[in-house]
Amino acid sequence: MKLCVIEGDGIGHEVVPAAVRVLRQVIPELEVVSAEAGWDRFQDTGEALPEETVKTAKDVGAVLFGACSSPSYAVAGYSSPIVSLRKRMETFANLRPTRFLPVPTARAGVDLVVVRENTEGLYVGDEHTDDAGNTGTATKRITRAATERIAHTAFRLARNEKRKRVTIVHKGNVLPQTDGLFRRVAYEVAKSYRDIETDDLLVDTAAYWMVKEPARFDVVLTPNLYGDILSDMAAAWGGGLGLAPALNIGSQVAVAEPVHGSAPDIAGKGIANPTAVILSAAMLLRHHWNKPAIADRIDAAVNAALSRGDYTADIVGDKGMSTAEFADIICAQLG
Ligand code: NAI
Ligand code: MG
Repeated sequence: MKLCVIEGDGIGHEVVPAAVRVLRQVIPELEVVSAEAGWDRFQDTGEALPEETVKTAKDVGAVLFGACSSPSYAVAGYSSPIVSLRKRMETFANLRPTRFLPVPTARAGVDLVVVRENTEGLYVGDEHTDDAGNTGTATKRITRAATERIAHTAFRLARNEKRKRVTIVHKGNVLPQTDGLFRRVAYEVAKSYRDIETDDLLVDTAAYWMVKEPARFDVVLTPNLYGDILSDMAAAWGGGLGLAPALNIGSQVAVAEPVHGSAPDIAGKGIANPTAVILSAAMLLRHHWNKPAIADRIDAAVNAALSRGDYTADIVGDKGMSTAEFADIICAQLG
């Protein structure tokens, strides 16, 4: 088995090596190929996502990605490398599960998966400002083909994981030509999955319910931007960003990455929580490498550690253990 590892920026350099150690514990023969991407790489070379990184990622097919820093203002020649990588790898679905984990910051009863369309919506990258710099415009694109593909992914996942309901989240009342299309096509696909209940919510209402009653959600099927926002929100109920995993999947490829970013406020201190990346690696085992039993072992080891109160600082403050100590505990647990 072979894995392309891209640490990226900030805490990526801390949490990714911790997760690779855990993976090696369960797959000693794992072959790791390192590749570079990110803001630091851009500063050094003018390239945020080098071609050789894309080539390695495509050749290997399985990627573990940390996080990249992206400034919130335009920088000539720079765009988020993870957004580009998802596109170049044609990972059309981003699976973002949130389930209750035994930490004081989590909400009991929550067990949901946000299935986020990953290739279009407002993230097609067609954005510009007029010559005077006073009007910014971005294109939002929704296609039948991409919506059918993501809807089938959501319903199949619901079936495989014995989930009951898919909720389509959109803003079709204001955006009938784009989100309205998404909703309509998703309901068409739903007809092939009569065993799964289907309903839909406007995204603002969905946000309200996700805060008020997160346990009402099961599978959330949604365009790119809403999925990005709602999955961060849901992550709070799983115990926080340090615990929230994600997996991008394409037809033969997968990119595992945490929901969180490069966390510049704590980078370099060795205190970041590696759980999100460890659980992302477990998703790679479950959905891409078809090794659900090994994924279960990792999930169980994380659960056991958290149940004992083995916490990093994001959960318990100053007395939390370090990134490396937490990874040691998970490795020891896995034997
Ligand atoms: P962030 O997710 O990096 O951090 C938000 C807060 O959560 C911070 O207080 C941080 O310390 C904490 N946090 C995040 N992950 C943690 C972990 N594993 N352990 C403990 N605490 C953790 O989001 P923020 O601050 O909005 O963005 C920082 C940078 O990351 C920006 O440049 C942004 O563009 C980038 N970013 C990259 C993403 C990616 O590469 N996929 C996703 C989100 C943000
Ligand atoms: Mg995000």
